Amino acid sequence: MTANSPNSHHPIDPALLHPKRGLRARLFARMMAQVDDVHGDFIIPYKRRLLGDLHGDLLEIGPGAGPNFAYYAADVHWTGVEPNPYMHPYLRANAATQGRTIDLRTGYTEALPVEDESMDVVVSTLVLCSVYDLDVSLAEVRRVLRPGGKFVFIEHVAATTGSGLRRVQNWLQPLWSFAADGCHPNREIWRYLEEAGFARLELEHFNIDVPVVKPHIAGYAVK
Ligand SMILES: C[S@@+](CC[C@H](N)C(=O)[O-])C[C@H]1O[C@@H](n2cnc3c(N)ncnc32)[C@H](O)[C@@H]1O
Repeated sequence: MTANSPNSHHPIDPALLHPKRGLRARLFARMMAQVDDVHGDFIIPYKRRLLGDLHGDLLEIGPGAGPNFAYYAADVHWTGVEPNPYMHPYLRANAATQGRTIDLRTGYTEALPVEDESMDVVVSTLVLCSVYDLDVSLAEVRRVLRPGGKFVFIEHVAATTGSGLRRVQNWLQPLWSFAADGCHPNREIWRYLEEAGFARLELEHFNIDVPVVKPHIAGYAVK
């Protein structure tokens, strides 16, 4: 998708991507570390179902402060790519609490510092709303997955076009993106997944009881 709409993204040269630093990145990391799960209890059943039975080499993009460690099986070999270095101490502490050895890298989904076809699973929870370039990010996810590998996602998405909530999301987006580290409340993420070239896509739409970012999708795509 290339249309210049609230769902669009601007092509970005990965060489220009530097770690997220500064006061807003620091405050965002502190905020993420203080909430166990950003969308609270509503998301827990989806995490249990989708994350609980994953095995092998797993890459988590944008893992934040590490709220997902608690859901993974003990045999998961975890690698994370997180562009905000202020998240890293929280992530490491969370991993240590769970007794996990982790491989944490600084980087962006648009240019994953990960070998081709080296992962059995890629996980994204509440990250695709914030990436700069969704098409490039999904191409990167496919690149690093082994054939037959799974991309598992739980994301908040745009409300139905023309709905009152969608108008609110569109109106709030600039302020929301500024305050929430580039998060877009109005992205039709499922459309990008449909066009990303996966062999199979299974997803469900559901709503959670929070303001603005109520509509969600959860599911997986197979390479
Ligand atoms: C709302 S937080 C979600 C964190 C965590 N996944 C969770 O479920 O709580 C968004 C995360 O995506 C990261 N992020 C933002 N843009 C990114 C990008 N282009 N590539 C990878 N991660 C990104 C942020 O630094 C942050 O850790």
